[in-house]
Amino acid sequence: MTVETPSRPPTSERSFLFVLGSARRGGNSEALARRAARTLPPDVRQRWLHLGDLDIPRFEDLRHSGDGTYPEPVGDVGTLWAETLAATDLVVVSPLYWYSVSASVKLYLDHWSAWMRVPGTDFEGTMSGKRMWAVTAYASEDVTLVEPLLGTLRNSAARLRMHWAGALLANGSKPGQAMDSPGTAERAAEFFSPQAARPGTPVGAGAARE
Ligand SMILES: Cc1cc2nc3c(=O)[nH]c(=O)nc-3n(C[C@H](O)[C@H](O)[C@H](O)COP(=O)(O)O)c2cc1C
Repeated sequence: MTVETPSRPPTSERSFLFVLGSARRGGNSEALARRAARTLPPDVRQRWLHLGDLDIPRFEDLRHSGDGTYPEPVGDVGTLWAETLAATDLVVVSPLYWYSVSASVKLYLDHWSAWMRVPGTDFEGTMSGKRMWAVTAYASEDVTLVEPLLGTLRNSAARLRMHWAGALLANGSKPGQAMDSPGTAERAAEFFSPQAARPGTPVGAGAARE
């Protein structure tokens, strides 16, 4: 498992957790997120977790079994849980897979249901007021096909009373294509700027790529 930390201690209150959900490394979504993150001030803490590096167990629905609680998460999923709670800004970096988030991101969200039921931890209360951002690459010619992914994330954020901070979308299939699309690097560079953070506003779309 890789937890990347900045070289000098952060002093800002802001703390960004990048949850990478592609089924490959160095893909388009990750490249977009890394370009956007370069503009974050150095005193803002950054944590990068690739879900593919983590051993995340399948989610079990225990809501109506026994007392309906879950034990405190341990191991890799415990790290993911703790980093999620610690962040002020959650950046979900998911490619468009079958019109929605990737399976690993969906599993991450499913685990939120367990984390809401860990005695002694107010997951919902702690997540309330944080910001959620989305970074997504997609291959289709039609950007409206990304809407189910955005709806999943926006509604999940709303369920926990998080603020929807916006989405960075770019078209591409092979690694490198999204960043090569005209205007994408500029949009990525502006993504985390206060002016770009318009709730509910997807930030741009590109042309079709095969
Ligand atoms: C399992 C799978 C499902 C996909 N489903 C879609 C889709 O529904 N719509 C789409 O436009 N692209 C789809 N794609 C293409 C990816 O979104 C595209 O290649 C994207 O650039 C991958 O992101 P990454 O480079 O960050 O891994 C799919 C790719 C895979 C591997």
